[in-house]
Amino acid sequence: MRALTWQGKHDVRVETVPDPQILNPRDAIIRITSTAICGSDLHLYDHYIPGMRDGDILGHEFMGEVVETGHSDHKLKVGQRVVVPFVISCGSCFFCQKQQFAACDNSNPAENTDASELAYGYPMAAAFGYSHLTGGYSGGQAEYVRVPYADVGPLVIPDDGLDDDKVLFLSDILPTGWMAADNCDIEPGDVVAVWGCGPVGLFAVQSALLMGAHRVIAIDHHPRRLALAKQLGAEIIDFEQVKVREALAEMTGGIGPDACIDAVGMESHGLSPDNLMDHVKVKTFMATDRIHALRQVILATRKGGRISIPGVYGGIADKFPIGALMEKGLQIKSGQTHVQKYMPELLQMILDGKIDTTFLISHHLDLEDAAEGYKNFKEKQNEYTKVVLKPRLGTRSALH
Ligand SMILES: NC(=O)c1ccc[n+]([C@@H]2O[C@H](COP(=O)([O-])OP(=O)(O)OC[C@H]3O[C@@H](n4cnc5c(N)ncnc54)[C@H](O)[C@@H]3O)[C@@H](O)[C@H]2O)c1
Ligand SMILES: [Zn+2]
Ligand SMILES: [Zn+2]
Repeated sequence: MRALTWQGKHDVRVETVPDPQILNPRDAIIRITSTAICGSDLHLYDHYIPGMRDGDILGHEFMGEVVETGHSDHKLKVGQRVVVPFVISCGSCFFCQKQQFAACDNSNPAENTDASELAYGYPMAAAFGYSHLTGGYSGGQAEYVRVPYADVGPLVIPDDGLDDDKVLFLSDILPTGWMAADNCDIEPGDVVAVWGCGPVGLFAVQSALLMGAHRVIAIDHHPRRLALAKQLGAEIIDFEQVKVREALAEMTGGIGPDACIDAVGMESHGLSPDNLMDHVKVKTFMATDRIHALRQVILATRKGGRISIPGVYGGIADKFPIGALMEKGLQIKSGQTHVQKYMPELLQMILDGKIDTTFLISHHLDLEDAAEGYKNFKEKQNEYTKVVLKPRLGTRSALH
């Protein structure tokens, strides 16, 4: 089959690789119909996340058709259309029972857990196409993918003509934006500020408004992404035009937002002195993450406020404003998304017409053009808000 493989920093290639096989009775093989490039994939592309090996197949946002299952009584049936959560979860461990699927203790094979146990105290759960730290499972930017624990994760999509574009993002960014807002414990009258108007930030804006936030203020520097936030109902701040903390204070009567969401993560943009220093430290292996946006979030949140961090961080933070966090009495919630927990209610909201996700998609590309999709999603963020890849879309069919 054809699949997008990681070959090193800023080097991804579509290659012919062996087809996936069933390894366990609970597995299923899915024929991919749509798969997307995520901001999290950029952390791999930029080689911020360790544990990648040449030839690893990327992709953790995907959906498709079940073509094979591990046994005849499998919960999934051949021919069903499914969206697959990016987190791989067993469904029965202590954490899965609590619906903390992104903390599953069984999905990451023991031989891969040492590094994350050393870094985080306990091993991480597994995810598709996201380095050997999270299991080394092949991802879904491919024609086919093997889905482990397929009797737990995949959500069957009712056969009523719903286009892939309407449901694909249930695999990650829609539940991620939703959990980001949920983690703010929004109260009536709340002002919520969201850093980052990428897919996660935009869905966090949409979710916060649906959860009853009185006002949502979105921060970024790409005009098109800010315009999408505005279209959803947010007020906007361009961080290249104004000082963010000061602007937020002014917009909230000097108090600051009640809740703030960091939908930026470890690769903050901006030419502030602290971010420039972070660049140097990361380049010289003295730091792992550029946490400029998170510093700003902590300083901008009102006293006694709430912080939610869906943005991915991987290592040890430099110049972390612990004093502001403690002295202002802030609360923080974070985490990889417990996708399986949120998928059914979000699918229902899509079916009821309460949530539309299609506004986000700027480009549909053939899987063969995935390398170009990565490059542009990174370098032309203003125009490339979300890239959906489709095997055999047709634009490059001569290559197959
Ligand atoms: N928690 C999870 O389970 C989960 C799931 C998916 C993605 N993520 C993470 O969420 C983050 C966002 O994902 P995405 O797909 O939207 O990525 P993205 O790269 O498309 O978007 C990030 C946005 O942040 C903006 N930004 C950069 N620096 C900023 C700053 N200083 N202030 C304000 N905005 C700034 C960028 O201009 C960009 O528009 C990433 O770190 C990604 O890894 C987490
Ligand atoms: Zn993702
Ligand atoms: Zn589990």
